[in-house]
Amino acid sequence: MYGPEDVESSHDVLVIGAGCAGMRAAIEAHDAGADVALVSKLHPTRSHSGAARGGINAALGNAGEDSPERHAADTVKGSDYLGDQDAIELFCAEAPGDIYQLERWGALFDRDDEGRLAQRAFGGAGAPRTVHAADVSGHVLLQVLYEQLLAREIRVYEEYFAWRLVVGATGCDGVLAWDLARGGVRALAAKAVILATGGSGRVYCGSTNAHACTGDGMAMALRAGLPLEDLEFVQFHPTTLVPSGLLVTEAVRGEGGLLLNAKGERFMRRYAPEAMELASRDVVARAEQTEIDEGRDVNGSLLLDMRHFGREKMIERFHGTRDLALTYAGIDPLEQPIPVRPGAHYHMGGVATDVDGRSEIENVFAAGEVACVSLHGANRLGGNSLMETIVFGRRAGRAAAEQALKRSGSAGLAPSARVDGERELARLLERHQGERPSRIRDELGASMHENFGVFREEGGMRRQLELLENLRERYRHVLVDDRGEIFNSDLVQALELGYQLDLAVCMVSAGLERRESRGAHSRPKDFPARDDENFLKHSLVRWSNDWLDLSWKPVTITKWQPQRRTY
Ligand code: FUM
Repeated sequence: MYGPEDVESSHDVLVIGAGCAGMRAAIEAHDAGADVALVSKLHPTRSHSGAARGGINAALGNAGEDSPERHAADTVKGSDYLGDQDAIELFCAEAPGDIYQLERWGALFDRDDEGRLAQRAFGGAGAPRTVHAADVSGHVLLQVLYEQLLAREIRVYEEYFAWRLVVGATGCDGVLAWDLARGGVRALAAKAVILATGGSGRVYCGSTNAHACTGDGMAMALRAGLPLEDLEFVQFHPTTLVPSGLLVTEAVRGEGGLLLNAKGERFMRRYAPEAMELASRDVVARAEQTEIDEGRDVNGSLLLDMRHFGREKMIERFHGTRDLALTYAGIDPLEQPIPVRPGAHYHMGGVATDVDGRSEIENVFAAGEVACVSLHGANRLGGNSLMETIVFGRRAGRAAAEQALKRSGSAGLAPSARVDGERELARLLERHQGERPSRIRDELGASMHENFGVFREEGGMRRQLELLENLRERYRHVLVDDRGEIFNSDLVQALELGYQLDLAVCMVSAGLERRESRGAHSRPKDFPARDDENFLKHSLVRWSNDWLDLSWKPVTITKWQPQRRTY
């Protein structure tokens, strides 16, 4: 049934993940002269980048005075001064060029009355800076990038679950993947590998993230010996739809949507008197959680009111949001406010890289949410992540291609790598007693919400670590019921759960050690203030001897000294 090329293959550059960062990286690596292929659990246009609805940030200055410098200053402030300012400046300077390229490739961005690209307001931004395609911006970018892949005939190993980096004496030589559609382990050799697997939001039960967002790339990197940076910083998006957790875009607030509590008050007045609903996400999420904790909620939700938008604006700019509300909450936002609450949305931390996506292991690169450049520091501004996928996807693609083309000969994996992988999966599939992954996963998700959510404190984090130890012990005997080869989602979910458990331990351990409140890491009871003297630094976790090792590295400051952060 299979030819040898199906079981083993070889490329200059292999990109793991086919969302916006992965596709952008592959396009650039191809254009730099490399033979490139993508590996993805999903068909590319079903990637989670499609859920980023509101838009993509670049200082074009079309809707008000703006500049890359202003964009950088907002990003530094948004990051609560933990973002590396050299990376931020580079990102903001390169973003406009990338927007125009996307447009030339066919991205149908909305336009203003003068025919320029329209830009809307987003949280924490000093000027309207978010370029958009109604409220389906990520989806549009996925289509455009996929067309560019097709035009270049770039190979996609679709429905392949990459689950291990193979690292030899001279660095990474490729990955092992499970072929979801046909079953079996595939050895994919490469001279350079780019991780672009997105985030890990499914560590939480309430998340905007697709079920595929299980932190695969971060965990693979960790297991290969790479450090993960700033893992304690998880962004809670203020407007996730109740009860599903689906994202209600920040663009709603950007265009005038109001947040109300049970008394009908615009409660943001108390927390961010100037920016109100458009304060940065950590601030709004904390305000909402406080309203809920103090009993001014409506059945655990706050209300997002967009009734005043009127039918024309609703249909033109927010048809996607209206569809979501109608389908998943049974509410027409033209008639009623939508119930929302904070939900896990984005991981500011990830594989530590430089601005070209280079990691500490030779030939391993990372871009997009899986990486930590560090652009976002302790809190990301909305709209900066789609832009990050493009700017840093492009840069990682170019750097990986150059690296790969310098390596002589063709890429290859030691035959033992595939045999070892097959043995490991066989052990899992042959187990006849144990616990199914779903119960462990549900307990993980609920407890992370409880003990490592919008607010954290020492006792809860210690309890969470104990619980994680117990879950990890139970996971050692996890049972895969389905022993078939074809679309064995049971097997994949068991492997994903292993990743999620490893990452959760890293996240909470780093959170315990960061004894301050900064950005999305908020400890109002035990360490309510930011502590620049002791914690203006990035955490780094590594896996060593089945437990983690935590260290720190300095933040790069170019021109913005830390200041009190208010909105
Ligand atoms: O709210 C949103 O549209 C999400 C965008 C983002 O996370 O950047």
